[in-house]
Amino acid sequence: MNAKTILEMSDVSFKYDKETVVQNVSLSIKEGEFLGLVGPNGSGKSTLIKLMLGLLKPTAGKISLFDQPIRSFKQWEDIGFVSQKANSFNSGFPATVLEVVKMGRVSKTGMFRFFTRRDKEQSIEALKTVEMEDYLHHNIGELSGGQQQRVFIARALVSEPKFLILDEPTVGVDARHVADFYDLLEKLNKEKGITLLMVSHDIGTITEHASHVVCMNKTIHFHGHSEEYKAFSDDDLNRLYGHAVQQLTHNHHNGEAGEL
Ligand SMILES: Nc1ncnc2c1ncn2[C@@H]1O[C@H](COP(=O)(O)OP(=O)(O)OP(=O)(O)O)[C@@H](O)[C@H]1O
Ligand SMILES: [Mg+2]
Repeated sequence: MNAKTILEMSDVSFKYDKETVVQNVSLSIKEGEFLGLVGPNGSGKSTLIKLMLGLLKPTAGKISLFDQPIRSFKQWEDIGFVSQKANSFNSGFPATVLEVVKMGRVSKTGMFRFFTRRDKEQSIEALKTVEMEDYLHHNIGELSGGQQQRVFIARALVSEPKFLILDEPTVGVDARHVADFYDLLEKLNKEKGITLLMVSHDIGTITEHASHVVCMNKTIHFHGHSEEYKAFSDDDLNRLYGHAVQQLTHNHHNGEAGEL
């Protein structure tokens, strides 16, 4: 089977000012993949995602989405995004949990129409999957950071994207909900065929669920099947990436939950 290409980056580099933070990254993501993106703090993961979303322009190299150059790409409604810092609502923000999630349907159906009953049902369904249905009518700003993040995940789900990008979406979410969330992502990927890219610091868990892994530290040090990654010994990993990634794998080997 010849899977469609969802994202193609060739020789992409980027610097905010003088220092290059993403260097010569070439990466191809095919339809149906669940890609885990790992790397130490400051290794350029969020920057890479901002480049994919067209929020930053590469200093060099080319990016295409769904086989179209990013410059002329228009179907942004096919791309969902949950950012690393979602909990930015203050307590006075005038929207309920249900309203925030329903907004995820706007991209599907257009700004200038009323929400249907189906929009509401789907929104409630998504809130159930993240176990936030008891908070439907609460003001979003009154929730804890982890609860807000679960609401944002629900919003990304109802928009039914073809490509869902999640930048450490589980930061601040407690361990039990994180496990459910990974199960849910796997289901979305396998049953609905949604292509996923997820940044995570919990390399043990992400390699259990993702089909592929990319390990980056400014450049890409590894890109391959999760199985291939899991087969590496500590020595292999040391040789491949040196100290920085040894820290990353640490959590995996001593069984801690990492930065979750
Ligand atoms: N807006 C910005 N202006 C200048 N430098 C930035 C900006 N955002 C990030 N950087 C720098 O770019 C580098 C890569 O940052 P980035 O946020 O992409 O890392 P990351 O891999 O997502 O890290 P983390 O795991 O901590 O989220 C860092 O050195 C960071 O200080
Ligand atoms: Mg980041």
